[in-house]
Amino acid sequence: MSRKFLIAGNWKMNLTPDESAALVDEINSLTGSQTSVQVCVCPPFTSLPVVSSKVEQSEVHLGAQNMHAEPSGAFTGEVSAEMLRSLYVSHVILGHSERRQYFGETNASINSKVIAAINANLRPVFCIGETLEEREAGKTMDVVGAQVREGLVNYPSSALDLLVVAYEPVWAIGTGKTATNEMAQEVHREVRKILSEIFGESAASSIRILYGGSMKPENAAGLLAQPDIDGGLIGGASLSSKSFCDIIEAALSTQA
Ligand code: 13P
Repeated sequence: MSRKFLIAGNWKMNLTPDESAALVDEINSLTGSQTSVQVCVCPPFTSLPVVSSKVEQSEVHLGAQNMHAEPSGAFTGEVSAEMLRSLYVSHVILGHSERRQYFGETNASINSKVIAAINANLRPVFCIGETLEEREAGKTMDVVGAQVREGLVNYPSSALDLLVVAYEPVWAIGTGKTATNEMAQEVHREVRKILSEIFGESAASSIRILYGGSMKPENAAGLLAQPDIDGGLIGGASLSSKSFCDIIEAALSTQA
């Protein structure tokens, strides 16, 4: 069982196409040829074409931040898996807490998207995580456990090589508050246990579980050194090539 680190940048609703092009140029020149740590950037939809053309010649992967579960139709404002594939997108963030909180996504609707993504051969970066209120009420594992079980209903074992899970405690996103290494590891270990109940121990041991929530160069090494943390989903710190690539450096030295 060896799990290569994945460091993914979620640019959220930031950067015009020109700004995105400039950022990906810098990332390409700093880390675009190494393959020891997998790197993925997830720009907004409007920047996917230009970023796609720029990562074509590098080892950087391209992700989207959302998609619709249906292949086509009257869904104003949405994009399909096939549309993403046509731009050489390989990963798609699904079930991010901001989608759950502001756009009404549920475990069931996220499950439909996860299944649609793998049917299109896209890698879902499937997000889970508890709110501060849930953590303080001692419900972290109940919430995260339900998110995993309901979000992965009918997930075929044959497509497990595509699956990436991202644990992002909601209270740590954009707040500067990071889970301690121990807190994060504890949830990651439990999530892997749930995955092994669903898919079996051996399969669960190869699924990557990323940590997200105020990850930055200063805390990345400690988090990535935890046995069940297999990378990061980075928000704010992925908008600067320096801090994003410093996190990749931390992953490279932790892996070495
Ligand atoms: P921050 O790194 O800005 O806390 O965001 C994390 C996140 O939501 C990544 O998806």
